[in-house]
Amino acid sequence: MKLSSSPLYTASQIQERVEVLAEKLSQDYAGRETIALIVLKGALHFGSDLLRKMTVPVSIDFIRAKSYKGAASTGRVEFLVPPSLPLKGKHVVIIEDILDTGLTANAILGRVNAAKPASVAICSLFDKPKCREVDLRGDYVGIELERQFVVGYGMDYEERYRELPDVYVLEEEE
Ligand code: XMP
Ligand code: MG
Repeated sequence: MKLSSSPLYTASQIQERVEVLAEKLSQDYAGRETIALIVLKGALHFGSDLLRKMTVPVSIDFIRAKSYKGAASTGRVEFLVPPSLPLKGKHVVIIEDILDTGLTANAILGRVNAAKPASVAICSLFDKPKCREVDLRGDYVGIELERQFVVGYGMDYEERYRELPDVYVLEEEE
């Protein structure tokens, strides 16, 4: 597998979308006790950029859910890092890098809902709605993609490429 010769989205194009999402979230979460639950590792950069652009107070927590082996979803979701803050009565925003089959976000949603928050929303930078296997919708979505595997800006293929500032398509080698 190799990277596309040019980025699908450059760092500055990504930041424009992140700004729009931060503005919407800042409006919707004003006056609420909010916890941003960043899904590791993929949403590391997105979460960090998004929260620094927000103009309302928000607590930060992490969750690590693993569901992917290579480029194909296994459907099994493991919680390697559970949230550390009590979510009960709080407004929780789950911050994801990408929604694909929806299985990961769905499992996280179940876990968060079990803690009886005041509300839960999903904010994902990327969304591949055509790949969905469960009925799940992102409440805040930055960029819709076709059925393609992307890497960079936190997203990996077998733990590579997370450090890249731009987002590339992963392509088959000739
Ligand atoms: P599901 O299928 O559960 O997948 O919605 C969500 C998680 O799978 C990973 N994923 C990707 N990672 N490029 C990546 O680098 C992709 O195109 C891609 N699609 C899914 C990702 O970890 C996400 O949280
Ligand atoms: Mg991954």
